[in-house]
Amino acid sequence: MQYKFPENFWWGSSASGPQTEGRFPNDGKGDSIWDFWYQEEPEKFFNGVGPEKTSQVYKKYKEDIQLMKKIGHNSFRTSIQWSRLIPEGRGTVNPEAVKFYNSYIDELIANGIEPFFNLYHFDMPMTLQKEGGWVNRKTVDAYVEFAKTCFELFGDRVKKWFTHNEPVVPVEGGYLYQFHYPNEIDMRKAVIVGYHENLASAKAIEAYHAMNLPGEIGIILNLTPSYPRDEANPEDVKAAKIADAFFNRSFLDPAVKGEFPEELVTILKELDMLPEIQAGDLETIKNNTVDLLGINYYQPRRIKAKETPIDHSHGPMPDDYFDNYDMPGKKMNPYRGWEIYEKGIYDILTNTRENYGNIPCFISENGMGVEGEEKYINADGQIEDDYRIEFISGHLKYVSQAIAEGTNCLGYHMWTCMDNWSWMNAYKNRYGFIAVDLDQDGKRTIKKSGYWFKELAETNQFEA
Ligand code: BG6
Repeated sequence: MQYKFPENFWWGSSASGPQTEGRFPNDGKGDSIWDFWYQEEPEKFFNGVGPEKTSQVYKKYKEDIQLMKKIGHNSFRTSIQWSRLIPEGRGTVNPEAVKFYNSYIDELIANGIEPFFNLYHFDMPMTLQKEGGWVNRKTVDAYVEFAKTCFELFGDRVKKWFTHNEPVVPVEGGYLYQFHYPNEIDMRKAVIVGYHENLASAKAIEAYHAMNLPGEIGIILNLTPSYPRDEANPEDVKAAKIADAFFNRSFLDPAVKGEFPEELVTILKELDMLPEIQAGDLETIKNNTVDLLGINYYQPRRIKAKETPIDHSHGPMPDDYFDNYDMPGKKMNPYRGWEIYEKGIYDILTNTRENYGNIPCFISENGMGVEGEEKYINADGQIEDDYRIEFISGHLKYVSQAIAEGTNCLGYHMWTCMDNWSWMNAYKNRYGFIAVDLDQDGKRTIKKSGYWFKELAETNQFEA
């Protein structure tokens, strides 16, 4: 069967500054929380590989853009590292960073690849983190200044901006489940972080629109549909709804509808954990919703009613309201430990159509991290990643169905282009269309999936 996509569909991939650029002498970059954390506890990172190494995109971006072109990209998303552009978080702009991002943007455009730029990809400048990071409201002001600087410097050519990538992840990783610096467990702070990220997003959108630049601004959210263990069990259904409010609607509703979900507000009120809301904040959030929604989808969330005893050791937690459900027989990516459920992408797209005004959206991340891909290298030195082709096509079938039913989905970006640095997992799992050999100075080799994607992008269809 042929699966078809509209003309001018955005085909490409996504990445981020901190996971790709690396650090080089005299580049003027300041420390982000990742640089700092790695200096403090390098053993926490897979094989001891830190954020200064990565895939050297800072030096190799011209070569990389030729490879993107070779695999059919018409668009590509990465992020501006706040700590590269403004090393201390606020104040002086780093001229080396301006040169780099200008040249990166110009090179993409010259090669027919539209640059999409995100402003925050988990990379708080360390100077601001020392003052509390997103817990401190002053960070919102610093972020808005940073955003304005980016719009002024690059907004004549970059026409797709995003305020955050997966803003719920710094909440979860930094303040609930310990996989981002500062690695705390403190739900009160987690709520404040989420609130400030939402406010910062609305204020950046307000600033962008006020500048009348020729483009659009949105947000990128990891939407993990919450499926109850048993649809017929009201307790499971209720638990799944609460998980959805905590992890999806906490950002989706303010971003698209300009308001916070009632269920979440009620719970936080009961816990006496509502953040401090200043006069005008809610109006700002109400009046500055996104033009465009990026959807990252990797895995669903399976939920059942709370059965295990509540753990009070760290105070209240979202998990007091549900248990994660380990569904028997689910399909897994064993390397990352994430379930593969292709229909989830269709359910998200249907939800945006039915409940979020069919907002213009695109799949901004979807992908499969695999460890030990060297074992799939063929005689010509190419990684035959048929599993990745199967993963992408399995999801794209559902994207094409959602579009046929009227969902306003404008593109598909795979995570990622070049294999890159996956935070604490460093280079354990590889996600790219293009392999990066760390032992050969980051040598690039296109995988089988890259050539498959090229054909898809050129014909707007595939057969399966
Ligand atoms: C997304 C992020 O959550 O998933 C990326 O936007 C990340 O930054 C990607 O790398 C894959 O997850 P991980 O944890 O395996 O790197």
